[in-house]
Amino acid sequence: MKYEDYVDLSYKPKKSDLICHFYLDVRGRERIERAAGAVAAESSIGTWTEVTTVKRYVLKNAAKVFSIEPVGRLGRRANIKIAYPIELFEPGNMPNILSSIAGNVFGMKEVLHLRLNDIIFPEKIVKSFPGPLFGLDGVRKVIGVYDRPLLGTIVKPKLGLNTKDHAKVAYEAWIGGCDIVKDDENLSSQSFNKFEKRLKETLKMKRKAEKETGEKKVYMINVTAETKEMLRRAKLVAESGNEYLMVDVITTGWSALHTLRNENKNLKLVMHAHRAGHAALDKVPIHGISMKVLARIVRLLGCDQLHIGTAVGKMFETKEEVLANREALLCDFYGMKKAMPVSSGGLHPGMVPALWKIFGKDVVIQMGGGIHGHPKGTRKGAMAARQAIEATVKGISLRKYAETHPELKEAIKRWGVIIRA
Ligand code: 3PG
Ligand code: 3PG
Ligand code: MG
Repeated sequence: MKYEDYVDLSYKPKKSDLICHFYLDVRGRERIERAAGAVAAESSIGTWTEVTTVKRYVLKNAAKVFSIEPVGRLGRRANIKIAYPIELFEPGNMPNILSSIAGNVFGMKEVLHLRLNDIIFPEKIVKSFPGPLFGLDGVRKVIGVYDRPLLGTIVKPKLGLNTKDHAKVAYEAWIGGCDIVKDDENLSSQSFNKFEKRLKETLKMKRKAEKETGEKKVYMINVTAETKEMLRRAKLVAESGNEYLMVDVITTGWSALHTLRNENKNLKLVMHAHRAGHAALDKVPIHGISMKVLARIVRLLGCDQLHIGTAVGKMFETKEEVLANREALLCDFYGMKKAMPVSSGGLHPGMVPALWKIFGKDVVIQMGGGIHGHPKGTRKGAMAARQAIEATVKGISLRKYAETHPELKEAIKRWGVIIRA
């Protein structure tokens, strides 16, 4: 088969096909049909020339470009759709699937830019992955809060605090009103704050805060490490009686993440996913892999929560992108549990009304700088954040609520109010 033979615009995809939506921009004088066919070939059964070893039964597994929608007038760019027969993939093997549909194709010379915008997974593939153990509803049950966004913080400074001070900052945040305290993405077991000791000391403070507030508190400790070491740490977390772990899903890798999820059948921890590094794949809108696709994969591989952007904070995404990521966590997925969206990165109490418009109540709102940067410190910062959530859920404007809540007033004075993204 030549590259063009992989294009069949009359093809109607089967229910069992895996479908990819790509944006394609061709290089030099390349024709769009040929380049689209090249992508379908290389990501399924083909190569740059016809080979003598091909058999008739192999040909039926060729991927098919079944839609080419031109973008602009030059005939060089298009949104294309490719259908892949399910036989091309090993169920339950994410690296295998991605080595086909998100592998060599990005580097082909026919292609100037290629963006994997979405993947429609067929039922059999979805069911071959574990999915979240707790999911959105399970997370709510663990924390016992059903009617408002959950409030979290990240201990700051992100690196450098010793264990005692780390636990103290966590305690202040819980006492002030945070439900959740989490480690930052680049804290693991550095010399100044070793994993085992941090787990022990921070949990001591968690229990103290629970006793004093009468509220359930959770600690998302970062277990990210080499796979076996990560499993060992996850086991320690479960043995300590903690409910949560956190993992950096991109830098850890899909296979390690899947292994961790398999182990979690026994450990039964809520898995919180940080996406540090995602922007290397998804930031340039014409190339790479969209965050929506990454979110689908993280859900399939069994995380209960995932950072999906803010639209108002320090990261770059638009509201539309954040909503698309959210949809990937919440959509019907052949019965697979929903994952809880997490909004984090450059948030402060004055942004809660804007976040409420995007997410509604089903979100974890996390503020690092927006809590520990409060002029009166972490505890008052957490109080201000909790007050901002209370006010917004009650439909009261932050400025009005701030008249009787001095902590919120201080936060607004420092950072202002943002009503919409
Ligand atoms: C994300 O969603 O990408 C993160 O929450 C951004 O915040 P961080 O880079 O400070 O961790
Ligand atoms: C995260 O890991 O999500 C971040 O550290 C958020 O920190 P920030 O609220 O200070 O941006
Ligand atoms: Mg961080």
